[in-house]
Amino acid sequence: MEAPWRSPHLLGLVLALLPSCCLLTRAAAQDDAWLLLEIKRAWGDPPVLAGWNASAAGAHCAWPYVACDTAGRVVNLTLASANVAGPFPDAVGGLTGLTYLDVSSNNITGVFPTTLYRCSALQYLDLSWNHLGGELPADTGSRLGTNLTTLVLSGNRFNGTIPASLSSLRNLQNLKLDDNKLIGTVPAELGKLTRLQTLWLAYNLFDAGELPASFKNLTNMTSLWATQCKLVGDFPRFVADMPELEVLDLSINTLTGSIPPWIWSLEKLQSFAVYRNNLTGDLVVNDFAAMGLTLIDVSENYKLTGVIPEVFGHLENLTTLSLFSNNFSGEIPASIGRLPSLSVLRLYSNRFTGILPPELGKHSTFTYMEVDDNELIGTIPEGLCARGQFTTLTAQGNHLNGSIPEALANCTSLRGLALNDNQLIGTIPEGICAGGQFRTLHAKGNHLNGSIPEALVKCTSLRGLVLDDNQLSGEVPWALLTTGIITLSLHNNRLTGRL
Ligand SMILES: *[C@@H]1O[C@H](CO)[C@@H](O)[C@H](O)[C@H]1NC(C)=O
Ligand SMILES: *[C@@H]1O[C@H](CO)[C@@H](O)[C@H](O)[C@H]1NC(C)=O
Ligand SMILES: *[C@@H]1O[C@H](CO)[C@@H](O)[C@H](O)[C@H]1NC(C)=O
Ligand SMILES: *[C@@H]1O[C@H](CO)[C@@H](O)[C@H](O)[C@H]1NC(C)=O
Ligand SMILES: *[C@@H]1O[C@H](CO)[C@@H](O)[C@H](O)[C@H]1NC(C)=O
Ligand SMILES: *[C@@H]1O[C@H](CO)[C@@H](O)[C@H](O)[C@H]1NC(C)=O
Ligand SMILES: *[C@@H]1O[C@H](CO)[C@@H](O)[C@H](O)[C@H]1NC(C)=O
Ligand SMILES: *[C@@H]1O[C@H](CO)[C@@H](O)[C@H](O)[C@H]1NC(C)=O
Ligand SMILES: *[C@@H]1O[C@H](CO)[C@@H](O)[C@H](O)[C@H]1NC(C)=O
Ligand SMILES: *[C@@H]1O[C@H](CO)[C@@H](O)[C@H](O)[C@H]1NC(C)=O
Ligand SMILES: *[C@@H]1O[C@H](CO)[C@@H](O)[C@H](O)[C@H]1NC(C)=O
Ligand SMILES: *[C@@H]1O[C@H](CO)[C@@H](O)[C@H](O)[C@H]1NC(C)=O
Repeated sequence: MEAPWRSPHLLGLVLALLPSCCLLTRAAAQDDAWLLLEIKRAWGDPPVLAGWNASAAGAHCAWPYVACDTAGRVVNLTLASANVAGPFPDAVGGLTGLTYLDVSSNNITGVFPTTLYRCSALQYLDLSWNHLGGELPADTGSRLGTNLTTLVLSGNRFNGTIPASLSSLRNLQNLKLDDNKLIGTVPAELGKLTRLQTLWLAYNLFDAGELPASFKNLTNMTSLWATQCKLVGDFPRFVADMPELEVLDLSINTLTGSIPPWIWSLEKLQSFAVYRNNLTGDLVVNDFAAMGLTLIDVSENYKLTGVIPEVFGHLENLTTLSLFSNNFSGEIPASIGRLPSLSVLRLYSNRFTGILPPELGKHSTFTYMEVDDNELIGTIPEGLCARGQFTTLTAQGNHLNGSIPEALANCTSLRGLALNDNQLIGTIPEGICAGGQFRTLHAKGNHLNGSIPEALVKCTSLRGLVLDDNQLSGEVPWALLTTGIITLSLHNNRLTGRL
């Protein structure tokens, strides 16, 4: 016969009477059900956990967000974006079979939950995007289970330094500490985590310093993200020993020296961003192997020089090329206009000469182009919107001539044209504002003639029209004032009537 204390009817009573030390005798699975209810209570019975209610034994394995092993022990708890709030419940530490815990994007408060040291089987731990704070305990790395492969603490308010003890987590493959308030420098000990594939450190409050040279041993790294980490000194050399690297983002730091040519030999590199640093010198490309690049962003270094490497025009997956606010020169290779994936091209504030690649827009879903403040000549490519997705062209302060292409004006996705201070001629095409999304036309300081088209006057989406210093004629279109326009400037034309 079953022992009376196992009877379901008495279970609640027994639980209430026994101190927690004596519950060890109960089946571990039954324990887990009780712990889940304890977690639910600690979080104030949130609506999202309404489905966690006392019912037949083993039923907890069917509760939402819970998964068990065959013995009925809870192994997975996935409560991401579940809208739970309050301190991290100690009861979670009792779920000693847990291998996978994700409580990301909630309102969990307090300090790092050391109760998790009891969950020694944990492989995956994600506490990101909560309101946890305080220092990470110095022993965190030696107390968490060594089976841990993923530790995600992003988007909290952890302060203090990165504990060197994290290097004890020898199986760690993914470590994400970005978007916290961590200080100090990155400990050299992390170089012992040789299985590491993902290391995210961006947006912390570190002291000015370098990433440790011991990272030379992190040869399995695929994603290294250290935006705004107060990095100083030369471009880190250890990156050359990361042949698996797919994503490298060292933007918003004060790295100096040049971009090493070997960066382009990293065969698997897909995303390379070093914008807003103090890098100088030419973009030198010798042995180029990174044919899978989708994003190149070296903008806002102010002093990068040289030309756009011809090979960039042969990157079949390149969607974004961002080189603005530097000192690049030479012509834009025509091959850039034939890239099959290009969507965004940002080249403003450099010293580019020659013409815009005539085929731009014809071979890819092109959406956005900024080429202001260069020394470009020739005409605006007529196919920018050939694929029907183009939104914005800014090309102020060049020497562009010819007229505003009809096909561009007719583009239904078009939102803005900024063409001030060029040598454009002809009329403003009638088709402008065809898609009803058009917001701004800035084309002062050109040689535009003819009248302001009727289509523009009726364009209810229009917010800015700046056409000073042209040769526009006809009546001032009074009706413009009923479009919802905010900025309107038409000085120094041949318009008749008054505004
Ligand atoms: C228990 O949760 C289930 C859903 O999992 C729900 O259908 C049932 O009504 C709940 N029972 C109580 C007593 O809240
Ligand atoms: C636990 O979650 C992980 C990741 O979602 C999944 O791969 C695994 O199959 C889950 N285990 C169980 C028992 O549901
Ligand atoms: C979580 O915090 C956000 C903003 O701080 C708040 O809007 C939301 O209501 C909170 N949710 C809970 C469950 O407390
Ligand atoms: C760690 O993983 C190994 C291999 O899967 C397993 O045998 C061991 O029990 C795990 N350790 C813990 C504490 O769960
Ligand atoms: C860390 O955060 C805790 C809790 O918010 C605060 O009391 C402490 O002063 C902070 N420490 C530092 C060094 O900022
Ligand atoms: C690197 O990754 C591969 C494949 O995931 C794995 O076989 C190898 O053991 C890893 N190397 C180290 C040093 O962990
Ligand atoms: C890399 O690892 C080797 C062997 O584990 C070790 O001897 C060496 O000091 C490490 N290199 C760095 C730069 O930490
Ligand atoms: C980096 O450049 C910024 C602005 O261009 C400048 O203010 C700063 O002093 C430079 N820092 C270093 C370390 O060169
Ligand atoms: C471009 O992307 C596709 C799809 O992701 C991939 O199959 C192809 O290998 C990539 N090309 C290069 C050169 O890496
Ligand atoms: C850009 O390069 C030119 C030619 O090398 C040089 O004269 C000029 O000073 C540089 N401009 C800046 C802002 O570095
Ligand atoms: C535009 O400028 C180029 C070179 O500056 C010149 O060859 C061409 O004739 C000009 N075209 C027009 C339409 O003015
Ligand atoms: C632009 O649209 C107008 C009608 O609004 C049409 O007459 C003209 O042929 C179109 N031009 C091009 C190049 O698509």
